[in-house]
Amino acid sequence: MNKPYKTFSCQIHFSLSFDKVMVKILIIGAGAAGIAAANRLSENRFTNFTILEAENRVGGRIYSVKFGNAFVDLGAEFCHGENIIYDLVRKYNLLKPTEMIFPQLCHSSKELVRQDIADELFKAFYTIYMAPKQENQSFGSYFDQKYREIVTAHFQDKSHCKGLALESFDLFKKWVTSYEGSFSWYTPTIVSDYQICKGNHLMTWQGNGCGSLLKVLTKKYPAIEDKIILNKEVTDIIWDQDEAVVKCQDGSRYTADHVIVTVSLGVLKEKHQSLFYPPLPNNKETIIRKLGMDSIHQIFFQFPRRWWPVSEFIGFSFLWDEEGMDDLKRNNADKFWVKDLIGLFCVDQNPNVLEAWFSGEFIPTIESLSEEIIIEGIMFVIEKFLKDRFVDIPRPNGFIRHNWYSNPHFRGGYSHQTIKSRESSTEIGMSEPNILAEPLCTSSGKPMVLFAGEATHPIYYSVLHGAIETGFREADRIIAYYK
Ligand SMILES: Cc1cc2nc3c(=O)[nH]c(=O)nc-3n(C[C@H](O)[C@H](O)[C@H](O)COP(=O)(O)OP(=O)(O)OC[C@H]3O[C@@H](n4cnc5c(N)ncnc54)[C@H](O)[C@@H]3O)c2cc1C
Ligand SMILES: *[C@@H]1O[C@H](CO)[C@@H](O)[C@H](O)[C@H]1NC(C)=O
Ligand SMILES: *[C@@H]1O[C@H](CO)[C@@H](O)[C@H](O)[C@H]1NC(C)=O
Repeated sequence: MNKPYKTFSCQIHFSLSFDKVMVKILIIGAGAAGIAAANRLSENRFTNFTILEAENRVGGRIYSVKFGNAFVDLGAEFCHGENIIYDLVRKYNLLKPTEMIFPQLCHSSKELVRQDIADELFKAFYTIYMAPKQENQSFGSYFDQKYREIVTAHFQDKSHCKGLALESFDLFKKWVTSYEGSFSWYTPTIVSDYQICKGNHLMTWQGNGCGSLLKVLTKKYPAIEDKIILNKEVTDIIWDQDEAVVKCQDGSRYTADHVIVTVSLGVLKEKHQSLFYPPLPNNKETIIRKLGMDSIHQIFFQFPRRWWPVSEFIGFSFLWDEEGMDDLKRNNADKFWVKDLIGLFCVDQNPNVLEAWFSGEFIPTIESLSEEIIIEGIMFVIEKFLKDRFVDIPRPNGFIRHNWYSNPHFRGGYSHQTIKSRESSTEIGMSEPNILAEPLCTSSGKPMVLFAGEATHPIYYSVLHGAIETGFREADRIIAYYK
């Protein structure tokens, strides 16, 4: 085979002044990873790139919109610890640490739970969630067996908390699925490669929401924005020639020396067979199938006035005990989806807005419900749990949300490792996280198709700082190839 890129790489060996502008690069997706890759390429004067984005906006799972008095985040909301994002935005003073205060706990058949008891309970949840566990089990299979035992041991001297903690089994389950981004707690593995960064875990974005991060990444290289083409859904990536060919839904066609693919794991799961030609190698196809990606759901409700407490208050969380759950199922079956509501939480700088957090199996249903039905369901919960404490609770006069799971350009919230994804070819409990990140290369080793995006990070998958690092990583891979 006498392929032109061979000659090209020879040339760069002999000429120090090779023209980076001649290296043509396509980035698929203008989310965090795509924008990070563009930033790193620009910094290294690889400026001949185009970003193709299927949506009509930039940001992907970063989605800050004006609602009520301020910006709200329909996607990523927090910076989890002192990570690469923290370093990138440090000098702009954009992040604000939040204090660890817990929501008020409302019980389906009792009064409001005393705050000191609720605090102990939430702290216990966290400790139990974080404690070292046994390999090759799901959260579900582990806690179905162990929850009672662990709670009893944890609260051995505090019987007043123990009873409540035992009743909170379902609330704890919802908590786990919201962290993992899974519909069921039987899919995510209890021992995973995920690592926590030091520092405050819930830093919020002051002012304009998480979108500020994208502004920081493009600020020094405003040309990036001119290189983004919106409403460009890529349908085919043909990579077996010296030049990759990328085809779009609208019939347009692009060619490139390298393609950086940043679409979510959910999109890869659904489309990889039609997206890539030649098809993906077996090991990559397998890991795409084995890793998990379901969703979480948030809805921001705007109320005509603030009826909830003003100070020392972050929100309400709802605990359905067995009786409450049975009653809901029997007498309000059409509203059974409200059981997946974890709580209603205050929103920074938005005094009349409450954010509802859902996690679990009803998310696809919830995404399909109309605004009216959603508001009815929320009012049902508020009245059931809170009507004795607050008078004249008004109905919300509007809400905003994004349906991440039904949107074909996302197909979910964030990825998680599963028991299956941690069965490497040699050993149970050994993951092979780098398979998803491995580029597709020509026979001479030129990386033609590169993979970035949250799910390709070995230890910071699922989160924004992971997504950013993978964008840098794949840009660096191209830069290194020409060194
Ligand atoms: C509701 C929610 C809350 C979250 N909260 C947090 C949080 O608080 N903190 C945190 O760290 N992380 C959070 N995350 C996770 C974080 O948002 C993601 O990890 C990160 O934004 C992923 O970035 P990405 O670039 O990998 O993927 P994406 O943002 O999904 O970017 C991929 C882009 O590719 C585009 N695309 C898809 N298919 C095609 C196609 N065929 N052709 C062209 N373009 C295509 C998509 O439209 C998208 O813009 C949250 C996520 C969600 C959904
Ligand atoms: C991008 O690279 C191609 C060759 O790969 C070249 O023909 C084109 O002029 C370059 N574009 C710019 C804007 O430099
Ligand atoms: C975990 O792996 C061991 C063997 O390594 C096996 O005996 C056990 O059944 C597995 N447990 C589960 C829950 O799969």
